[in-house]
Amino acid sequence: MSQPWPRTAAWVDGWLTSIGGVDVAELAAMYGTPLYVMDRAELLSRMREYRQAFGPDVSVVYAAKALCVVGVLQLAADQGLGVDVASDGELCTAERAGFPMQRVVLHGNNKSRDELRHAARLGVGTIVADSLGELDRIAAVAAEVNRQLVVMLRITPGVAASTHAFIATGHDDAKFGFSLWRGAAAEGIDRALNLPGVHLTGLHCHIGSQVTATDDFVVAAKAMCGLLGETRDRHGVELDELNLGGGLGIAYGPDDHTLAVTTYADRLLTTVGDELAARRLATPRLAVEPGRSIVGPAGLTLYRVGAGKEIAGLRRWVSVDGGMSDNLRPALYGVRYAVAPAGTPRHGPTAEFSVAGKHCETGDVVAADVDLPEDLGEGDLLAVAATGAYGYAMANNYNRLPRPAMVLAGDGAAQLLVRRETLDDVLAHDIVLR
Ligand SMILES: Cc1ncc(COP(=O)(O)O)c(C=O)c1O
Repeated sequence: MSQPWPRTAAWVDGWLTSIGGVDVAELAAMYGTPLYVMDRAELLSRMREYRQAFGPDVSVVYAAKALCVVGVLQLAADQGLGVDVASDGELCTAERAGFPMQRVVLHGNNKSRDELRHAARLGVGTIVADSLGELDRIAAVAAEVNRQLVVMLRITPGVAASTHAFIATGHDDAKFGFSLWRGAAAEGIDRALNLPGVHLTGLHCHIGSQVTATDDFVVAAKAMCGLLGETRDRHGVELDELNLGGGLGIAYGPDDHTLAVTTYADRLLTTVGDELAARRLATPRLAVEPGRSIVGPAGLTLYRVGAGKEIAGLRRWVSVDGGMSDNLRPALYGVRYAVAPAGTPRHGPTAEFSVAGKHCETGDVVAADVDLPEDLGEGDLLAVAATGAYGYAMANNYNRLPRPAMVLAGDGAAQLLVRRETLDDVLAHDIVLR
């Protein structure tokens, strides 16, 4: 079991009082709510933990899709991580963060020619090709820039990861990559090895997200080593790199089972070592691509309670000032998050509540059936745990709500990572008809 709150979270009688040494009531007063709060110590220690667990010979590539903001990418660059970007917007964020381009990996199942051109011009370290058509586009861009481009192939290893269907990516009919099924991967490798302008350095796979079963990772790693062996046997080429993707799950609630990074690293490294030795293959440069397990548990969201109502004998509702616009995941995947009262503690009994968001959707429920102070009411603060990954990243302006601010809290001080949107920001692109 794991607990979902960041390590500097301070508690009095079940109330969250501070984070990173900063009083949560002051944070809410100063920056407003909803507010994403990132715990600097938790974030940095997760980055370091990955590097230590995998050791100096393995690249840890932060998957920016989980939380792509300049400040977080600056911290990742400082900690020696690489970064995985999946669009030109994410690439521009890495550029603004001053990320060394050699450490950037470009992903995506539908990269446009312009995205590929921009990546080539910037000198992005690796482009991960997702399809035969894309290999041809990469070759065309290489001809335009008159340079070989370093390419890996995304392989779909035929693993149905034990996770939500929307975030499983390694099964045979997934939209991503070259499937092992019926030789598509072998065909991609043949093509990549023979395309001018394409320098194929290795293979990549990513089986899905929020995975907590080591066996899923092990099966995928074995399949990938098998493919490296087949490539050697078929073409006489030993590829230099193997990227095993991300996907390690985190705790959203107190009862969630998780896998320690060290256990995950040990199993992956042992499996790959054994499989390569059995095939007498030299060890390629290994990489992993964690996103959620780096930023998820480092973040929480502070909301302010507004309206409340009791449906006698059925349910007590409280509504907060955000919801599915700042965190789509409860509505999209049915995730159950841990919720706690925050601010100045009060003593008293608890009662069961459901916490509603403020959007015009019945499914906009932040958390159902949670124990909270019985006298919870207007003006109180609630904290929702583990919202650092895929919260802000998937935030939207549904019902024209401005996106919240995000702060980094540590050593008793907070600094803005993202300023709060204004209504002018939200309306900025609308054209008034004359
Ligand atoms: C190619 C790739 N790498 C890494 C990740 C990161 O996954 P996670 O955030 O679950 O670690 C993803 C997530 O979808 C991905 O598509």
